Amino acid sequence: MTIRTIFWEDNTVVMIDQKALPQEERYLACRHYEEVVAAIKDLTIRGAPAIGVAAAMGIALGMLTVSSSSHENLKSAFHEICTQFSRTRPTARNLFWAIERMKKLFEDTLSSSPARVVEALTEEAIRMCEEDIAINKRMGMQGKTLFRDGDNVLTHCNAGALATAGYGTALGVIRAACEEGKKIHVYVDETRPVLQGARLTAWELMKENIPATLITDNMAGFLMKQGRIHKVIVGADRIAANGDAANKIGTYSLAVLAKEHNIPFYVAAPFSTIDMSIRQGDEIPIEERNAEEVTTFRDVRVAPEGIAVYNPAFDVTPHRYITAIITEAGIALPPYMETIRPLQG
Ligand code: MRU
Repeated sequence: MTIRTIFWEDNTVVMIDQKALPQEERYLACRHYEEVVAAIKDLTIRGAPAIGVAAAMGIALGMLTVSSSSHENLKSAFHEICTQFSRTRPTARNLFWAIERMKKLFEDTLSSSPARVVEALTEEAIRMCEEDIAINKRMGMQGKTLFRDGDNVLTHCNAGALATAGYGTALGVIRAACEEGKKIHVYVDETRPVLQGARLTAWELMKENIPATLITDNMAGFLMKQGRIHKVIVGADRIAANGDAANKIGTYSLAVLAKEHNIPFYVAAPFSTIDMSIRQGDEIPIEERNAEEVTTFRDVRVAPEGIAVYNPAFDVTPHRYITAIITEAGIALPPYMETIRPLQG
């Protein structure tokens, strides 16, 4: 079964509507780049690598309307579109990585005709989508060696096919271990406040016939104490040069708990998530989202009107809690400041 998260079809960007899952499996076809901007902001598409691909396709989509313009118009439209995408979600490194890659291609092809420039941008966005799937499969090949037959694995948020162009990062590693015949059982954190675990990871694992059990976020420590969890694996939105990793809020607490219980804690992420310009985690911008995500539960109000709310979407796990970082080129072990760069080549 292949989950199609995002694809380019007949000059539209098509994406599975992740807000509608798991109740409804429907696709949104974006004809204007502003719709892609809105889809990233409102979590119709989410997960760092998927956001990167959506932005690249969105930029290409926006440029279609100016493909018959002068080079000057092309340039100003391109920069305006890129600026709008760069303002969508501040934490996901892949977003900025994708925009930078599109900018480089734009500069490199600018001497061609405007129509050719736009065609090249579209080709690049489609290539990024295909590459992301291939990268995740390579990451799976690397990471599966860390898992044993019979492992019970805890994951948080959704770092699966839905969070990427396909196959997934953390869930990709689990998938690869299962494809090899290992019996893995996954505990899925529901992941408040937006429930990416309950709605998306649970849905994906069931579709793939990977045994899974859903728990609420506050149960993880108890399960670890009971010896039910052998390993933890999560994705990342941005990793600093020293290995500190930003991921969905709640990841840090899991990492601290895992250390207390001597449970390996793995982060799986492609190089497009690693930000070598940031030395350590406290330099990573953390997105704050709206209060309604916390005060309501799928549109039903659960908190009193007027209560103050703080809603950071991500936290940063210090590198000392991370047993290994799984990338497409190999597994980095501490000290990450020394081991990530050589893998990157
Ligand atoms: O707010 P979200 O749903 O975009 O957050 C996603 C996560 O935190 C994922 O774990 C991360 O992007 C890695 S996805 C391969």
